[in-house]
Amino acid sequence: MMLPYCLYLTLWMLWIGQCIGQDLLFPNSFNGAVGGSVEFALGSAPPSNPVEVNWNFGVPFILGLKDGVLDIQPAYQDRATLDTTTLTLKLINLRFNDTGTYKLSVTYKEGIYNGQTSLVVYENVSDTKLTGLGKPLIETKSIANITCDGNGNITSVQWAKDNNPLNPSDRVFFSSDNKSVSIGPVIRSDSGEYQCTLANPASSETAKLNVIINYGPENVLIDGMSEVGLGQKVSLSCSATSVPSASFTWKFNGIDTSVNTETFTIDKTNLTHSGDYTCTARNNVTNQNVDSQSHSLVVKEGGGLTTGAIVGIVIGVLVAVGCICGLIVYLTKTKKIC
Ligand SMILES: *[C@@H]1O[C@H](CO)[C@@H](O)[C@H](O)[C@H]1NC(C)=O
Ligand SMILES: *[C@@H]1O[C@H](CO)[C@@H](O)[C@H](O)[C@H]1NC(C)=O
Ligand SMILES: *[C@@H]1O[C@H](CO)[C@@H](O)[C@H](O)[C@H]1NC(C)=O
Ligand SMILES: *[C@@H]1O[C@H](CO)[C@@H](O)[C@H](O)[C@H]1NC(C)=O
Ligand SMILES: *[C@@H]1O[C@H](CO)[C@@H](O)[C@H](O)[C@H]1NC(C)=O
Ligand SMILES: *[C@@H]1O[C@H](CO)[C@@H](O)[C@H](O)[C@H]1NC(C)=O
Ligand SMILES: *[C@@H]1O[C@H](CO)[C@@H](O)[C@H](O)[C@H]1NC(C)=O
Repeated sequence: MMLPYCLYLTLWMLWIGQCIGQDLLFPNSFNGAVGGSVEFALGSAPPSNPVEVNWNFGVPFILGLKDGVLDIQPAYQDRATLDTTTLTLKLINLRFNDTGTYKLSVTYKEGIYNGQTSLVVYENVSDTKLTGLGKPLIETKSIANITCDGNGNITSVQWAKDNNPLNPSDRVFFSSDNKSVSIGPVIRSDSGEYQCTLANPASSETAKLNVIINYGPENVLIDGMSEVGLGQKVSLSCSATSVPSASFTWKFNGIDTSVNTETFTIDKTNLTHSGDYTCTARNNVTNQNVDSQSHSLVVKEGGGLTTGAIVGIVIGVLVAVGCICGLIVYLTKTKKIC
């Protein structure tokens, strides 16, 4: 019958369990890096005073402790050590072929304890770099293709922009292995620092790339006075929103001037300076030229006193009146008059 058979099997397994021994538990499996090290530590301390301790790599023997004498397999002579209290095995100078199962068996007078865990050795990620930007990127026109590459065992690829995760969208596409991202058509807010992190459970490395989206000129504006007195100094300045920053040229009454600075300055105005000023902003990457609205300047004969001049005149008049009053008082007191 089926039931008694199952019962016997269960009982038999329990009995075998007693013989084979109790469990020594490891908290997790282990990861290591080629050239790095690993310590196979139990989750909790094993009972003390073992008669015999054995560590095996699958079947092959690594090291053992019997009657206080440590015996290390020649192949592990320089690489393996045992902590005789915690029974932790430490392996240094790891190689790919250390990947596998590690078994610990501890014999006490009252029975045998067994435990096993596993190790995967990865080659560290190295030489991570971001490439792909050749020509300058122009807003609404370019597509940015950025590729992340590196050496070693790569098990995960993660992207971020300005320290926030970069997510797929209707303009952001990732290749199936996540190693390339295509963004486009680009907009100005795509500018920033792109970060790619290549990782495996033993190591990770991040590469960064600054991306600049070129645009403009936009909002080309002239700032300055529209009326000025004859003989005064006057400056008009031109501004534009542009990446890279724009260069400027100026026209007077529709005719090119030789001025190619942000500011158009007239040191001493005369009547010929009245008229319409226009500035043109140029972005040498987007190859766009944009004109400002024209700004009219009127040079006024006589009328155009500056605040400074007015204050000067007022002070001059007050000082003159003061002098005259003082003189009158003086003359009155000395009775040379009236
Ligand atoms: C591998 O990476 C780990 C963690 O970053 C580091 O501790 C270890 O020294 C590296 N190994 C080599 C061989 O560079
Ligand atoms: C493991 O690899 C090392 C070199 O990386 C080699 O010397 C050794 O013989 C290999 N061990 C086994 C068991 O294949
Ligand atoms: C980016 O990738 C797209 C589609 O794969 C392609 O059409 C475009 O030419 C690429 N751009 C650059 C700058 O490589
Ligand atoms: C790491 O890469 C090597 C080859 O470069 C390969 O032989 C090995 O299996 C890889 N290891 C893992 C854990 O992916
Ligand atoms: C690519 O990255 C996305 C999230 O960034 C993740 O959901 C996906 O599993 C990754 N694909 C591969 C092949 O790594
Ligand atoms: C006005 O000033 C300009 C220099 O800014 C000078 O070349 C020009 O001769 C002057 N015109 C008159 C009428 O004074
Ligand atoms: C383009 O303009 C920028 C800023 O005005 C300047 O730094 C750069 O040298 C210019 N490049 C070329 C190729 O003219």
